[in-house]
Amino acid sequence: MHNRIRRRNAVATTLLSMAISASLVFAAVPMASANDDGNPHRKPASSHTEPAATMVTARNDRVARLLASMSLEDKVGQMMQPDTRHITPQQAAEYHIGSILSGGGAAPESGNSASDWANRADSYQHAVINETGIPLLYGVDAVHGHNNVADATLFPHNVNLGQTGNAELVKQIGAITASEVRATGSNWVFTPTLGLPKNERWGRTYEAYGENADLSAKLGAAYIEGSQAGESGSGLAGSDSAIATAKHFIGEGITKDGVNQGDVPLDYNSEAFRKILDSELLVPYRAAVQDANVRSVMVSYNSIGGVKCHGNADLLTNVLKRGLGFTGIVITDYNGIDQIEGNLNYAQKVAKAVNAGVDMLMVDEHEGTQPKWIAARQAVIDGVNSGDIAMARVDDAVTRILNVKDEMGLLENPQLAYSNKELLAQFGGEAHRAVAREAVAQSLTLLKNRSTDDGSTLMNDLPSMKRIVVAGSSANDIGMQSGGWTITWQGSAGDITSGTTIYEGLKTAGKENGQTVDLKEDGSFTGNYDAAIVVAGESPYAEYAGDRTADQLTLQQKDINTISSIRKTHPNLPIVLVLTTGRALTITDQLKQVDAVVMAGFPGSEGEGVADVLLSADRDFSGHLTTTWPKDANNIAKKYIDPNTVLFPYGTGLVKSQVN
Ligand code: BGC
Ligand code: BGC
Repeated sequence: MHNRIRRRNAVATTLLSMAISASLVFAAVPMASANDDGNPHRKPASSHTEPAATMVTARNDRVARLLASMSLEDKVGQMMQPDTRHITPQQAAEYHIGSILSGGGAAPESGNSASDWANRADSYQHAVINETGIPLLYGVDAVHGHNNVADATLFPHNVNLGQTGNAELVKQIGAITASEVRATGSNWVFTPTLGLPKNERWGRTYEAYGENADLSAKLGAAYIEGSQAGESGSGLAGSDSAIATAKHFIGEGITKDGVNQGDVPLDYNSEAFRKILDSELLVPYRAAVQDANVRSVMVSYNSIGGVKCHGNADLLTNVLKRGLGFTGIVITDYNGIDQIEGNLNYAQKVAKAVNAGVDMLMVDEHEGTQPKWIAARQAVIDGVNSGDIAMARVDDAVTRILNVKDEMGLLENPQLAYSNKELLAQFGGEAHRAVAREAVAQSLTLLKNRSTDDGSTLMNDLPSMKRIVVAGSSANDIGMQSGGWTITWQGSAGDITSGTTIYEGLKTAGKENGQTVDLKEDGSFTGNYDAAIVVAGESPYAEYAGDRTADQLTLQQKDINTISSIRKTHPNLPIVLVLTTGRALTITDQLKQVDAVVMAGFPGSEGEGVADVLLSADRDFSGHLTTTWPKDANNIAKKYIDPNTVLFPYGTGLVKSQVN
């Protein structure tokens, strides 16, 4: 059943992807404007004085009364989301701020433990609740567990979760992450990423579930449901749930050359783009909004045909709010407003974004000595006073924000906004880590395997081999196996948090099996081994820092050398290459040198999950590739058009008894 669905998806993906490639190839040809076909959804981005067409109503009297009691300044305060690095609790109270975030790597000054995070959160909530009675929504980039915080449970990244294809598991991960987030006093996660990566040069490929719209819809919705229900299942008003964010809206995975924050080279109003939007890009968002009731959507930095999403009224208001019926909060990306095109000053860009349908402004950094959110706040106030922004638009935005706070029970019971001390006891605990470990095991995807002389296969025999040597620069490094968005924004190599490395997991499992497992990182060893496991992949990166040229999409030179040297010094030794990478790399040369290949993505803190499959005789591989892996990254553009350029098709995933 599982496989049949996968195969059908694979065919659909291929067809749609071919359409995309074809449109990208032909993008240079000018497209006819679809403006004149009478379709109201095809209006170009509106001028910045047009009010929103889609107002939500207050969900109850409490919200209605609260809104009616607010001044313009109060309302605009609700629409602001500064980073804790650029606002103090006192300022948050003074300006009646509605929301804060702690972005990638925004550790508290007191330290990076869960209780440091909880104390900081509480100090902001305390200041604001005392002043306004309206708790803050507090967002964090908990994109693979509560990953900025030391000793959090780090789940594998979404590339892995895509490979599991397991919606129940993803839902559980959403719920556990929400619980760890709520333990530290945050209540909003900026995940899942629903972009469809069609070009692995894109540095955020690993943050997505894969290139298939239906799979992304299924897993994205499951994550959101888990997060917004909480582990107890009590829902948004419970004390262990977090609102989720469908991001980044929209087009990020299909920009030209995979450039992060780049351009989708199709006219926004063209038939070609509208087709892709409707049949592919919107599919996961439909599920997120209509099936999973996601409470926030984050706008994408990218542009479509030169028009930045942050200022695109048709996209945010007609397509998302009216078309999909989204009633939650549209949040900007981090200073995303700054990137709106055209010769506009900052205040005009702010007005354009708000008029386009943005409800909350994530505005950060300092401009000179002043935090930038002060200017953004003033721009909204001035915009309303001058008539550039309709009061109705502000009321709509604030109603959405207050409705969400009310759904979370925060207006009725502000105490709920404080860190949940009971949950703090389970933070990074064994029960949570067991689920992360299981996710690692389920995500492992076998791409290559070979038969052995005894009529079996290498991967079948591995659990019974007596002596195994482990090599490669990602073998014994928790930072390397966790990828970006780990402790810091970019992540880093090294012993950066608690958990188990892949080598440690292999060593322990080997011991239980009566196997000797030795670490020789650079692959230089003497003596007799039955097999070598080389763990190699990418160093951590996040966002644009992960963008690559085609030539850069390879293993690191030292790992290339390690594989070559083992092959040379031990010509008959079976080599299993375990890839810790967020995306397809060009591995043509290595493929000839090794006997088996396992795609392991970025497993996170629970490296034993790798041994659970590799060294267990009772457990088989169940992962399937969720992108189309090109033979050579220089031919990415052809991979959906010419099957001869594909190394591993979408859906590839062998079991141990299979060879190829
Ligand atoms: C922050 C990240 C943020 C990024 C935006 C960094 O300085 O730490 O949280 O995503 O800037 O570009
Ligand atoms: C990223 C978002 C993230 C935000 C906050 C941005 O740079 O694009 O995904 O949620 O920063 O850190």
